[in-house]
Amino acid sequence: MCGIVGYIGRSNPQEILIKGLKKLEYRGYDSAGIALRNEKNVQVIKSVGKINSLEEKLSTENSIKANMGIAHTRWATHGKVTTLNAHPHQAGKITLVHNGIIENANELRESLTKEGFSFYSDTDTEVIAVIMNKFYEESKNIFKAISKTLDILKGSYALGILVSDIDKIYAVRKNSPLIVGVGKEEYFIASDISAIIDYTNKYILLEEDEICELSFTGVNVFKNGLVVNKEIKTTDLIGEDVSKGNYEHFMLKEIMEEPVVFERTLQKYFDNELELIDLSLFDEIHIVACGSAMYAGMIGKNLIEEMASIKVDVECASEYRYKKIFYKPKTLVILISQSGETADTIAALRKAKENGVLTLAIVNVKTSTIAREADYKLFIEAGVEVAVATTKAYLLQVLMLSLLTINTISKKQGSNLEIADEIRKIPDFLRKLLAEKEQYKKIAEAICKKEDIFFIGRGIDYAISLEGSLKLKEVAYIHSEAYQAGELKHGTISLIEEDMPVFAVITDDEIKDKTLSNVIEVKSRGAKVIVLTNDSSLEKFDYEIIIPKVNKLFQSLLVVPVMQLIAYYTAYLRGCEIDKPKNLAKSVTVE
Ligand code: F6R
Repeated sequence: MCGIVGYIGRSNPQEILIKGLKKLEYRGYDSAGIALRNEKNVQVIKSVGKINSLEEKLSTENSIKANMGIAHTRWATHGKVTTLNAHPHQAGKITLVHNGIIENANELRESLTKEGFSFYSDTDTEVIAVIMNKFYEESKNIFKAISKTLDILKGSYALGILVSDIDKIYAVRKNSPLIVGVGKEEYFIASDISAIIDYTNKYILLEEDEICELSFTGVNVFKNGLVVNKEIKTTDLIGEDVSKGNYEHFMLKEIMEEPVVFERTLQKYFDNELELIDLSLFDEIHIVACGSAMYAGMIGKNLIEEMASIKVDVECASEYRYKKIFYKPKTLVILISQSGETADTIAALRKAKENGVLTLAIVNVKTSTIAREADYKLFIEAGVEVAVATTKAYLLQVLMLSLLTINTISKKQGSNLEIADEIRKIPDFLRKLLAEKEQYKKIAEAICKKEDIFFIGRGIDYAISLEGSLKLKEVAYIHSEAYQAGELKHGTISLIEEDMPVFAVITDDEIKDKTLSNVIEVKSRGAKVIVLTNDSSLEKFDYEIIIPKVNKLFQSLLVVPVMQLIAYYTAYLRGCEIDKPKNLAKSVTVE
């Protein structure tokens, strides 16, 4: 969701900024823009649509020879997708790019209009530029102008700022991601490190209330007028990690990486016996997350409640942050987030902390806000996930919840060698499942022309169905619903029609007969039934996918790639834009 890149140094900023924007495309955007600066000019060029159209404009409009610049991909919030609304925005001497939402923008715009200021766009960002320029004109001091502006803004922001009479770039952030890259005599700002990884693996994390000044000779960070000594961190990410390799789509590449990232995560937390938190120290657990991460939490709830006998509530972060929560003295709040920057999940984390409750984050991005603020953190080892729809990170979120459950059980019962042996076999099972492309393609062919699909399951099979259904919706644009199999006949079964696809997930021995009777109910109403099971002796329906039978603790992990590949091939056949589904953003940094 909105991407920012900035560069100051000896190389050609235009090339670096465009390359950086392309690396940030995965975050989702609908327009893009760039501001180039040299000693004489600041030139802004923007366009709607893809970065290629911005590149075309840059060549036709004769971009200036610059030595610094800022660039932006916009995911529309305030105002339509138009060139005028695209960033950067300018007012007087100030040119800036913004990621986030200014909640009091309308109020500020009204009072500035009364003062005689006018606006050319509908954006909250232009309001920031106008205010900052006003304060800069008044004080002639950029630090004062930035601080005074931030004092009156409500909401979230990451800002990259150019000033037409200062040879520097300024950067600030609050509740939106922004890092500062430190190269050799060249410096960067970026929404995430992947945008600049080809130039440097060194970065600084900016905190709220800090103002970063990037010049040709270095980076200085200030807080309340004083220099702050910042640690320069190093990422282990390598450039290649963020390319498609030989795959047509990032989504497919990332699904195919699942066995490797699984092994990597297992090695870190299981083989090396890295200390995991003992969940039995808590009376109850709240798992809070959004989207797929929340669905991973639903699987976790099933495992932790059933195997470790601890009560778990799962709640989507956008609800949790505003509702009354009854915390017990020993409540643990687990936040799950691939990006670690999801605005609602951050708010839920802060709510728990304000209530004095311990927080544990399961996160992929180590530099993220959630990773920094949670009391305990577990990093999944997914590497960069570029496709907007999560795949490998979701798998590892589920794995991490299984490992937490195993750890908690073994604290009580001692370690179980059988479980340890079995979990090590999962990557090979995943490899075999991933290789069976033809059967997934066959199912994709059977469903790709349909507009409505149901997923049914009970217990943990329902939890995994939720994710299967979401994947199909988001990448293949097929309306799909996941239902608790037993609940179908209380209304929804009226929607079942001749040839309507119904996926039935049946892996849980204890309730499989019950789900089976629901399958028969939909079959007898004309549904085309696709059974995904670990029991090859089950009654046969229209299509069947058999996955290996393993301990319930890891069984869902084997359903994951099957669901993901079916969604992928279905989206492929429907000609969807798989890596960047419409209207979606990878990192949802606004409410
Ligand atoms: C779906 C998907 C989203 C994310 C959700 C939370 O494929 O990717 O539903 O799971 O937006 O994002 P994170 O995990 O970054 O907090």
